[in-house]
Amino acid sequence: MTANMSNTVYYTPEVKGSEQAAAYSKTQGSVMRYIAFRDVPAFVAQYVRGTKALDYGSGTGCSAKLLLELGLDVVGVDISEEMLAQARLLCPETEFRLSNNGIVPASDQSFDLVLSGFVMFCIATQAEVVAYLKEAKRVMKPDGVFIAVTGSQDLFSKEWLTLNVDFPENKNLTSGAPAKAYHYESNIEFTDYFWTEQDYRNFFAQAGFELLEVHYPLGKVNEPYAWKDEKTHSPFVVFVARAI
Ligand SMILES: C[S@@+](CC[C@H](N)C(=O)[O-])C[C@H]1O[C@@H](n2cnc3c(N)ncnc32)[C@H](O)[C@@H]1O
Repeated sequence: MTANMSNTVYYTPEVKGSEQAAAYSKTQGSVMRYIAFRDVPAFVAQYVRGTKALDYGSGTGCSAKLLLELGLDVVGVDISEEMLAQARLLCPETEFRLSNNGIVPASDQSFDLVLSGFVMFCIATQAEVVAYLKEAKRVMKPDGVFIAVTGSQDLFSKEWLTLNVDFPENKNLTSGAPAKAYHYESNIEFTDYFWTEQDYRNFFAQAGFELLEVHYPLGKVNEPYAWKDEKTHSPFVVFVARAI
């Protein structure tokens, strides 16, 4: 399918102005988000003991809303004030804090759960991903759980219901390379970074985490969506981890 590029909003990790933030807020309720986050509540029920949750890279608040719907006591943190402004509109009762210089504004060992929703593939270098994970570990309680939803290594090379990834830049991607995805439902073209499962495994190990789950959410036949390659491959991967 060819994208209608006329009103496309371009979203890169480096540029998150108010236009990008307002456009990103339209991904709330999208089918992309459905498949990515569908299985997160089951992992929360299985692994998380306690109610204190950090939405780490909360963006416009979509992932915070998911946590609120699970009955958790949520704080959202992001490095973008524009994204936080949108999040406060979506979740007016929730506290959203600005993170500066890679520091999460929260005390050590405060959270039972840290959720990282669509953040890790926005981070450009190995050192920054590891620093991001170490900061998550600092604010997690010793028995806390970290759940990340990020792009799979198939994200930029298959045919998806909700995303067009057929761009020349996406051929022969290597770790850390910028990659593009056009999201039909919100008319946004995203630039993210390509990381393999092995890259992510290395990042978690370097930051002092052990993995409890590596999960690829597939489209199911009983769902009301005309899944394409989602039937056999997942655009996303969910990691469940705890500190060693
Ligand atoms: C694609 S958005 C995802 C937002 C939201 N979690 C969701 O599920 O829609 C990624 C967000 O992560 C934020 N981010 C990137 N690096 C971060 C970091 N080191 N600490 C906190 N937030 C970060 C970005 O500013 C952006 O708002």
